[in-house]
Amino acid sequence: MNYLFELSKEHKTIPTSEVLSCLEAEKKYFEIADSNPNILIINTRHNKMINNAAERLSHSYYINEFLFSCKISIDKIKNSAKTKQIKQKGSIAIKYRNRSKKNNSQPILKALAEIYTKDRKVILDKPDIEIRVIITDSNIYVGKKLFEINRTQFEERKVQNRPFFSPISLHPKIARSIVNLSTIKKGQVLIDPFCGTGGIILEAGLIGLNVIGSDIEKKMIDGCRITLNHYKIENYKLFNSDIGDIHKHIKPVDAVVTDLPYGKSTTTKGEEKNQLYQRAFENISYILKNNCKAVIGISNIELLTIGEKYMTLIEVHDIRVHRSLTRYFVVYQK
Ligand SMILES: C[S@@+](CC[C@H](N)C(=O)[O-])C[C@H]1O[C@@H](n2cnc3c(N)ncnc32)[C@H](O)[C@@H]1O
Repeated sequence: MNYLFELSKEHKTIPTSEVLSCLEAEKKYFEIADSNPNILIINTRHNKMINNAAERLSHSYYINEFLFSCKISIDKIKNSAKTKQIKQKGSIAIKYRNRSKKNNSQPILKALAEIYTKDRKVILDKPDIEIRVIITDSNIYVGKKLFEINRTQFEERKVQNRPFFSPISLHPKIARSIVNLSTIKKGQVLIDPFCGTGGIILEAGLIGLNVIGSDIEKKMIDGCRITLNHYKIENYKLFNSDIGDIHKHIKPVDAVVTDLPYGKSTTTKGEEKNQLYQRAFENISYILKNNCKAVIGISNIELLTIGEKYMTLIEVHDIRVHRSLTRYFVVYQK
C-alpha cells in the first residue's frame, strides 16, 4: 500500500528525515514513491510500521492512504478520482491544504466533491471518511486520512509548563524530532549525557524508550527527576557525572541524543569549548553500540569535524533559534 505523509514544512530538512528515520527504526522494507517538501509517499506492506510512526512523529500533520496525484487540470482530477473510488460506506468530508499561491482551491474541491460526495452524506465534523487534498503549484495529492499527528502535545510540554524550568531547554517538538532522527526503536536504550532539564529524555521516554540522563550539575538531575515523575516516565536512570565518567555508570547504549553546551547561556564549567567537545565526542562514541546513531546539537558547524574523528557523518540539520543563534543537529553513525 502507498502512504501519503503530509509534512509540516516548519523546517527544510527535518520533516522528511524524521519520517524516514522512524520507518528505518522498524527495520522493515519500504520504498520512497515520491518526495518533495510538502509530501512524502511511502510504499510498504508493513502497516504496523506506519502505525508506530504515527505515534512518535512531530513534524508531520497527517498520514493518509494515498489515492492519487495528478497535474492541476480539472479533467485530470476528475478522471483520476473516478479510478480511485472509495469502497468504504459512510459519511464523508473533503479537507485540503493549499501550499500554492497561484492555484485556487475551490474548483479543485468542486471537481473532487462531484466524484467523492455522490450518494453520500457530507459531514464536516468527524465524518466516517476524510479525504485530504494537498495542493502545490504543479500537482495535487489526494489521500484518505488514517492518522492525525497529535501536535498540540508539544506546546503543552514546553519547559514553561513543566515542573522544573530553565531557559536552556529545547522546544519539545525539536527534542522529539532529534530523538526520532536517531532511528532508535521502542524498548531500546537512549542516553542524553548533557541532559539539562531533561527535555530530550522526556520526549524519548514518552515514546516508550528506556532513557538515561546525566549532567554535571546536580540541580539539573534533581529537576529532571521531578519532570520525569510528573509525566509518569518509568524506565529511566539519572546520575550526576562529568561527560568523561559516564562509561563508569552504564553499559553501551542504542542511541545518544544530546545538545552540547554552547558556551553562551549554557555552562561549560569554565572549560574551553573545543576541549569539552573533544572529550564529549570521544566519550559518546565510546558508550555507543556499533552501527548505532548519535544526534548531537553543536553551536558551530566547524565543530562537526571533531565528531568525525570517532564516527561517520550522516546528515546535518540547522535550526535558526534566533537572529544570532543557529544550532546544528548532526547525525553520526558509529
Ligand atoms: C545545552 S544544555 C542541555 C539542555 C537540555 N537539552 C534541555 O533540554 O534542558 C547543556 C548541559 O550540559 C551540562 N554540562 C556542561 N558541562 C558538562 C560536562 N563537562 N559534563 C556533563 N554535563 C555538562 C550543563 O550543566 C547543561 O545542563
